Amino acid sequence: MDEADVIDLLLAQHALIRDLFDEVEQAPAERRAEAFGRLVRLLAVHETAEEEVVHPYARRKLDGGSAVVDDRLREENEAKQFLQQMDQAGADDPAFMENLQRLRTAVEAHARSEERYEFPKLRAHTSDTERRGMAAAVKAAEALAPTHPHPGTESAAKNVLMGTPVAIMDRARDAIRRAKGEPTTG
Ligand SMILES: [Fe+2]
Ligand SMILES: [Fe+2]
Repeated sequence: MDEADVIDLLLAQHALIRDLFDEVEQAPAERRAEAFGRLVRLLAVHETAEEEVVHPYARRKLDGGSAVVDDRLREENEAKQFLQQMDQAGADDPAFMENLQRLRTAVEAHARSEERYEFPKLRAHTSDTERRGMAAAVKAAEALAPTHPHPGTESAAKNVLMGTPVAIMDRARDAIRRAKGEPTTG
C-alpha cells in the first residue's frame, strides 16, 4: 500500500467507503446523520476525483478505454443522483435504511467494476511518476472529506458549511483543477 500511488490511494478510499457504510448502518439513530454526512463527503470527493483524474486518462490511454469509462460514468451518475436524493430526505427519512442498502449495493458493485476492469489496466499502462502525479491531485480533493468524527460542537457547524453533495463535488473539482494547474469553474 503506497498512498503516493493513485491506484493504491483509490483502493484505500474504496475500503474506507465500505467502512463508513458499516458505521452508518451501525450508528444509533442520533448519530446516523453525522456518520452519513461523512459518507456523503467521501463519496462525493472520491467519485469527483475519479472523474477528474483517472477516468479521462483511462479513456485516452487504454484499449477499449472509452467503453469502460462510459460504463463507470453511468454508474457514478446514478449513484450521485441517488445520494443527492437521500441527502435531501435526511437520515430521519423512514426509508433511509432501505435506501442506504440500495446505495451500498450500487456503490460496491461500481467499485468492484473499477477494481476489475479499470485499475489493473491503468496500473499496467502508466509510469510510477504518472501515478504519483495523479495521486497528488486526488489528495488535494481528499482534504475536503474528513472520515473521522470531530468531537465537540463544531462538527454540526462543519457539516452545514460543507453543504450539499453537489456543492462538495464542485469544491473537490476546483481543488483538483488547482492542483493540476488547470482553470477552475469558480
Ligand atoms: Fe467511481
Ligand atoms: Fe472508485
